[in-house]
Amino acid sequence: MPLAGERDTLVLGGRLAKLVRPRDVIGLRGALGAGKTTLARGFIQALSPTTHDVPSPTFTLVQTYDDAKIPVFHVDLYRLTSSADLDELGLEDARAQGVVVIEWPERLGPGQFSDRLDIVIETIGVERRAVLTPSASWAERLRGFA
Ligand SMILES: Nc1ncnc2c1ncn2[C@@H]1O[C@H](COP(=O)(O)OP(=O)(O)OP(=O)(O)O)[C@@H](O)[C@H]1O
Ligand SMILES: [Mg+2]
Repeated sequence: MPLAGERDTLVLGGRLAKLVRPRDVIGLRGALGAGKTTLARGFIQALSPTTHDVPSPTFTLVQTYDDAKIPVFHVDLYRLTSSADLDELGLEDARAQGVVVIEWPERLGPGQFSDRLDIVIETIGVERRAVLTPSASWAERLRGFA
């Protein structure tokens, strides 16, 4: 679906927040600066109306929002350097507690969270669009979504 501007990216995040369930994992893919954090921001702000600031977790790797309707763990694996660091993040535990949103899910271990919803933000010139690739558990929920 087209993302004409930042606002559209935030709105898409907010719409996904309405469908999300505990233990869901969402992967956000796309080039540097595509709008992954922006989408996560719309998602988190919809689940946690008191949260205004959603910084990029580039350096912290995980940012937790536990005052949200469902706790959200916002993850950015761009700077991940080893699989030991990945283990240390404790993403399986995070998932047991809420929802995990992961920028750069390509850096997950093989087969890890394979039942997730992946969203790719494509940039074609100045135009952007989101392509949703749902796992089986998401396909039903996303019927008619676009
Ligand atoms: N649909 C859109 N159209 C135009 N600009 C957008 C759109 N969505 C987000 N942006 C802008 O793109 C810029 C980069 O966004 P953002 O930080 O969310 O990207 P990112 O994919 O998380 O980057 P990184 O790879 O560094 O994590 C921001 O200035 C944001 O406002
Ligand atoms: Mg980002």
